[in-house]
Amino acid sequence: MPHGLVLLGSPRRNGSSDTLARLFMDGAAERGLELESLPLREYRVLPCTHCGGCLRPPHRCVLADDDDAERILRALEAAPLLLLAAPIYFYALPGQLKCLVDRAQSRWAARQAKAARQEGSPPVSLSLLVAGRPRGEQLFAGSELCLSYFLRALGRELTQSQHLRGIESPSDIVPELGGVMRDWGRRQAGSVTLASPVSPTTSPAS
Ligand SMILES: Cc1cc2nc3c(=O)[nH]c(=O)nc-3n(C[C@H](O)[C@H](O)[C@H](O)COP(=O)(O)O)c2cc1C
Repeated sequence: MPHGLVLLGSPRRNGSSDTLARLFMDGAAERGLELESLPLREYRVLPCTHCGGCLRPPHRCVLADDDDAERILRALEAAPLLLLAAPIYFYALPGQLKCLVDRAQSRWAARQAKAARQEGSPPVSLSLLVAGRPRGEQLFAGSELCLSYFLRALGRELTQSQHLRGIESPSDIVPELGGVMRDWGRRQAGSVTLASPVSPTTSPAS
């Protein structure tokens, strides 16, 4: 039973953010923390259409039975440790991940209506953002804000982020950076209570 989740938000399998996230998972495993990876690209996530359905109780998305978003959101809400890993695309998040973020509108609506009860926020919510360009003052700004408000809709607070630039592909990940990621995983694992496992995620819709 895993103790946390790593959402792989890149459409590219085994790309930069996948590789860095796995190094983080290796570090966490060294401390006995078992993390499950969830490659978003293998799931079906439809875009929010702003139909307004979730604004009314029970704040359920009208698309909930049509794709995997609801099950993924539930798993993200429950994970004692959560890492959101993604590349930067045009100064923003990749489209499918943004679709998932937008589907958290049902959670936002429930919280607005005070229908959602929060019984202790899960402690560790992390983001790992990877960009090809070495420069750009605002390279991560929009994505970081987007993920922090996404997490808030899920009843979590972003606790720490890594913003890595100048990485076009996994071959740009130098051994020192690998060490930094492993060490991050080890340190974050130390702040999670091992007694609280995550309910298993379901397989993607075919
Ligand atoms: C559609 C697209 C848009 C991109 N936009 C940016 C960008 O705005 N800034 C940047 O620094 N890198 C940009 N990149 C480069 C990626 O962020 C970089 O290659 C990253 O390492 C990809 O991570 P991944 O392998 O985990 O997908 C873009 C790549 C693609 C495919």
